[in-house]
Amino acid sequence: MWRPPQRIKWHPDPGSWPSAEAAARSLLYSPIRVGGTGLSSRTWVPAMVPWRASAKGHVTDANIEWYDRFARGRPGAIVVEATGIREVPSGPLLRIGDDRFIAGLARLTDAVRRASGGETRLFIQLIDFLAIRRRPEPEKFFRRHLRIGDRHRAALDARDWPEDAVRERLARLPQAELAQVLDARELEALRMGYRERVTDTDLAHIRALPRTLPDLFSAAARRAREAGFDGVELHYAHAYTMASFLSARNDRADGYGGPRVNRVRLPIEVYRRVREAVGADYTVGCRYLAEECIEDGMGVEDAAWFGVEFARAGMDFLSLSRGGKFEDARQPAVGASAYPYTGPSGYECMPQYVSDERGPFGRNVEPAARIRAAVRAAGFSTPVVVSGGIHGFDQAEALLREGKADLVGFARQSLADPDWFRKVKLGRGSEVRVCRYTNYCEALDQKHAQVTCELWDREAIEEPGVGKTADGKRRMLPPAWPGNALPRDK
Ligand SMILES: Cc1cc2nc3c(=O)[nH]c(=O)nc-3n(C[C@H](O)[C@H](O)[C@H](O)COP(=O)(O)O)c2cc1C
Ligand code: SF4
Repeated sequence: MWRPPQRIKWHPDPGSWPSAEAAARSLLYSPIRVGGTGLSSRTWVPAMVPWRASAKGHVTDANIEWYDRFARGRPGAIVVEATGIREVPSGPLLRIGDDRFIAGLARLTDAVRRASGGETRLFIQLIDFLAIRRRPEPEKFFRRHLRIGDRHRAALDARDWPEDAVRERLARLPQAELAQVLDARELEALRMGYRERVTDTDLAHIRALPRTLPDLFSAAARRAREAGFDGVELHYAHAYTMASFLSARNDRADGYGGPRVNRVRLPIEVYRRVREAVGADYTVGCRYLAEECIEDGMGVEDAAWFGVEFARAGMDFLSLSRGGKFEDARQPAVGASAYPYTGPSGYECMPQYVSDERGPFGRNVEPAARIRAAVRAAGFSTPVVVSGGIHGFDQAEALLREGKADLVGFARQSLADPDWFRKVKLGRGSEVRVCRYTNYCEALDQKHAQVTCELWDREAIEEPGVGKTADGKRRMLPPAWPGNALPRDK
């Protein structure tokens, strides 16, 4: 993981906790309408992949237990992890690209409804991503993967050589000379692993994305509705396909790249097709970036402009994240894939306790406030969700009161303690396990290992009935909190 130049250690300070009466009077615990559904509070658990789906992308018992456990804390809404909309194998990542996934997802919506006493609304994040390969062994890259062309032959002065001889010569070329023979994409494929981009319009399937994606997203959204979700979140953030269309680096020349009016075109077309499929009463929003946080990337001005366009199109909420791009990711080990949360933009997405002078808490609040202000100035009341280092009641309440956002996302904080929402509401905030922003969970995510939190995953591990991770060393779920057994509060 990339670390910022100034390595200051920050300690989370949740501030004071409210009494139950003060919580009841707060904005955070006041209801809010989000499109076709009402939330009992302005608390939100953003999407987090826990790596618990089956190898074929089906919902497992472990998924059900995971979301059931989060629902017991009764946040206003939970967004189920990024779920793939295509018929492509993607390891233990949930999928929704075919009707066969509906039954499993319906079990999950039932479980959340039951565990939260019907209080928590459940959305699902719909994701599309392009192909990415592991960083190859250099020998394999030169002997198998690299497509040898005239350019390589000319650079090596090897026009008449058999292809095997050209490959052999390339494999033995010193690093400095390689940079003169391979182009930038080939060098990237060698050093990072091959990765498709939305700008690879020489590839037919990439050229066709504006034709194929609206149907893929809308079919997935229709399935989400059938499975009983209260709404869908279109994943337009981080390193994935739709964010790459919005990116300032998208220079497609087919009307879907270049100026921002073109870059927002496909995201709006996808939204419209989704809306047609699910109807006007269903909640549809998106998660996108307040800032890309990369060189030549999109800044908050573009994001504010996109926010207004999304609101104008009729989206029901805008959830803002930041960074998380491939462009500045750290070089992976041979045999591993590049990961978009390892460079400076990844740091902005999930800032950890070793930080710069700005610290890891609430880095996305001011950009979110600018985007919300632009949406309001354009006459739209679309709710805005902000996330990033938020763990205290005072912090959340203040940003709502100052009109910086309408809903507050607690991702890692809810992983550290899914009962945050209920503990604070009951005036028992002092019992909250406060996230330390160590990113231990994120390191597991990076390895595609079952995600847990170091604050609870060894607790009472030997007690009978405690489910353990595949390595047998960590508990799968946070320990139960007796307060959740209290009678239902009004
Ligand atoms: C283990 C893990 C998995 C994540 N998976 C997703 C995801 O599927 N989709 C997404 O938009 N963000 C994902 N995120 C990012 C979080 O939703 C959130 O934006 C980020 O952690 C910053 O918020 P926080 O400081 O409240 O944790 C993930 C974060 C973690 C720690
Ligand atoms: S492992 Fe736990 S304490 Fe550390 S960042 Fe993740 S949720 Fe927070």
